Amino acid sequence: MQRSLLPIIAAFTAIIFAPTAIIRAMDSQPSRQILAADANWKFFLGDPTDAKAPSYDDTSWRTVNLPHDWSIESQPDKKSPAGMGNGYYPAGTGWYRKTFSIPSDWRDKRVNVEFDGINKNATVYLNGHLLGTHPYGYTGFTFDLTPELNSTGPNVLAVRVDNSVQPSCRFYCGDGIYRHVRVIVTNPVHVAHWGVFITTPEASEALARVRVQTHVANDSASQGEVTVETTLLDQAGNQAGATESKLTIAPGYEMEVAQEIAVTNPVLWSPDSPVMYRAVSTIRKDGEVIDQVETPFGIRTLAWSADKGLLLNGKVIKLTGGSVHHDNGPLGAMAFDRAEERKVELLKAAGFNAVRTSHNPPSPAFLDACDRQGLLVMDEAFDMWAVSKSKYDYGRNFEEWWQRDLSSMVLRDRNHPSVVLWSIGNEIPESFVNWGTPIAQMLAGQLRMLDTSRPLTQAFPGSMTLPARQTIFPVLDVVGYNYNLADSYVGDHEKDPSRLMVSTEYESADAYEIWRLTRDNPFVVGGFVWLAMDHIGGTGNGAWFYVTPEEAKKAKQILSDSEKWHTVDNLFTAMANGTNIMTALTKGGGTMADMAAFMAQTLPGYPWHASNSGDIDLAGFRKPQSYYRDILWNGGDRVYATVRLPAPEGKEILAIGFAVYPTLPTWSWPGQDGKDMQVEVYSGAEKVRLYLNDKLIGEKPTGREQEFRALFSVPYNSGTLKVVGIRGDRAVAESVLTTVGNAAGLRLTADRTVVHADGQDLAFVTVEAVDAHGRPQLHADQEIQFSISGPGVIAAIGNGDGQDNASYQGDRRKLFNGRAIVVVRTSRQDGPITVTARTPGLSDGSATIQAQAAAPIAELR
Ligand code: GAL
Repeated sequence: MQRSLLPIIAAFTAIIFAPTAIIRAMDSQPSRQILAADANWKFFLGDPTDAKAPSYDDTSWRTVNLPHDWSIESQPDKKSPAGMGNGYYPAGTGWYRKTFSIPSDWRDKRVNVEFDGINKNATVYLNGHLLGTHPYGYTGFTFDLTPELNSTGPNVLAVRVDNSVQPSCRFYCGDGIYRHVRVIVTNPVHVAHWGVFITTPEASEALARVRVQTHVANDSASQGEVTVETTLLDQAGNQAGATESKLTIAPGYEMEVAQEIAVTNPVLWSPDSPVMYRAVSTIRKDGEVIDQVETPFGIRTLAWSADKGLLLNGKVIKLTGGSVHHDNGPLGAMAFDRAEERKVELLKAAGFNAVRTSHNPPSPAFLDACDRQGLLVMDEAFDMWAVSKSKYDYGRNFEEWWQRDLSSMVLRDRNHPSVVLWSIGNEIPESFVNWGTPIAQMLAGQLRMLDTSRPLTQAFPGSMTLPARQTIFPVLDVVGYNYNLADSYVGDHEKDPSRLMVSTEYESADAYEIWRLTRDNPFVVGGFVWLAMDHIGGTGNGAWFYVTPEEAKKAKQILSDSEKWHTVDNLFTAMANGTNIMTALTKGGGTMADMAAFMAQTLPGYPWHASNSGDIDLAGFRKPQSYYRDILWNGGDRVYATVRLPAPEGKEILAIGFAVYPTLPTWSWPGQDGKDMQVEVYSGAEKVRLYLNDKLIGEKPTGREQEFRALFSVPYNSGTLKVVGIRGDRAVAESVLTTVGNAAGLRLTADRTVVHADGQDLAFVTVEAVDAHGRPQLHADQEIQFSISGPGVIAAIGNGDGQDNASYQGDRRKLFNGRAIVVVRTSRQDGPITVTARTPGLSDGSATIQAQAAAPIAELR
């Protein structure tokens, strides 16, 4: 039945309901089933005719378990039409088929399939019937399977994924059904999909007002008279409040009920205390439970103004942020829950309190992890509107799909307390010309129709004084600055004191400046470094080079060109007016040509297949720059020492644009005896003293004036380099680098030694080359052969080197900076899994992980 949307606020009540009745309801038979549909898909890379037909013979196809990304199964290929944006990985067209049968008691049910994300251009069929298409690779979507289900025989769900026309993205997108799939079975009267919306407009430690809006759909042929009960449960599962409302819904309609529940002494959600509540929505008809949905939420308030900045629970919070992409490094785009959770763990451990999901909505698992761990999120909808940045990207679908995709992001993500900012776009060419403003208004209007509880932003590069900007800024709550520095933030504030600003992107080299601007100015809410974490694609962004002094001079000249931002303006304006970006760059002449030369220097392309500017590398290892940012934003009496790489005779190191000067935190520099080594020290203490083999080499202040860093020149002599942080006269912290011996063995350490035998859980095993005393040897670069025994498989192997184009799948990989990572995927069998690493000349290393029997999975079979 075709349902029309009738969002009527049917009731607004605050009835404190008898708790016992609700608890009984929750104990009863589940009225809604959510079945995982990740296991046992048949997959074929290619585009056979008739693959949608139920009778199609797929027995020769490969069996895969989702999440799955076929691109990461291959290797970067310089000739790949997907080009540098996609890290030179090939794309193509692929098919997935899943055969299942349904129980007879589904006859009167509504059955929907939900895809969290398919890249891209998905066409979905059930039993040969077209259910629909979905072009955008990053938004979730559902299809109603009910009308075409076969209740007596097998059913075949077939999905065609078409990413064959290239180039289609600026960053690695991955290919296939790379996020989860589930089937949702409900009664005809049920809570609508993404139908619960929870906000906490007022919350203090004494009392919170929790507002719950519930959409109930009536897909039956008769009028539905129902009771909507909402029960709030605290972290321990105790009831924190409840209410109920009555609702009458005509057949084929959907209605909304708005309720308000008071919670006394709530535990407020914040990055330091990410305490979650759950709302249980129960729909009853004639006393019987006909649907029940659980929604995790957090109790917290958000407010924003140029006077005060961003306030979380009434207190100013500054965003120590970084951008991440959706890929999981060696796993490609595959959005395993554990990979997403680990990503959040790594970001938190590196001192970030916020993340920007550049430039698209992330997986639900990523946001769940942000909620649980307390990482604030800028959830971003688009990298382009109708003007494409890559020839065949989503720009071609924008006009037809933007409303559905934007709504999908907001409806899916609006209950996450971690989401504190919506972004409607990144570096949008249309916003350089006047006709961009009505588009921004349209997007903002749609978004605010669905949620007004969070501020809205958009990221702008180039000049902030363009006429088009003056009409678009008022559409936003927070203006996103990409790379503009002090003069523009402070100068713009003087011109428009009501403007709230965020540094949506900044280069690592500007870390101090952005920190200072954020600390000193209430109207700057924080900064997001490009990047928090390396990603595939954006090839070589952040790469550094050995160059001659002349080459270095020329490159720096281009960089300091005062016309630079005008060039950005020209480039984007040309794009908005229909010029292809590459044509604009190469044929633009003058400053355009300089810009092209600059970009070639900062985005060098093959053999790079990944970015390099992240604080955390592709394998998940922190780089020295990460320790600096952590000390800068989070202070504390800490010291971190790292040593600049020496350049060969006649050359120097060029680190411009997104690059930072390359360093390694080691005091093992064979061949450098007597030569000056440059030691970078980052510290939150007042000053630092540097000792080589217990002899004081020097003392330097490391306060705010020094940007919390110091550079020492130290003649190399093996032994121990010690840096001590001093506050007053007291030593408060130290960092020690020791000369280590040659690599003698391999050491393996798993991030978790007990995992779930559910076929989805992962263990990340770090592999390090160590000397005879067990000390990491960072110069080791041997190729390692891995083997695995027990009920698990190697899902990926990586080393963090964006220029190493070996396959991420398989059983061997070189060490990079003396390290690698092996990702072990469990099966459904329990037992010990042992990973062993070998290389000639070094002793073997191994690690054992226990896969523990997991709870049975409710799934589509
Ligand atoms: C920015 C852009 C990002 C990324 C970055 C560096 O201008 O917004 O998406 O391209 O440059 O590569």
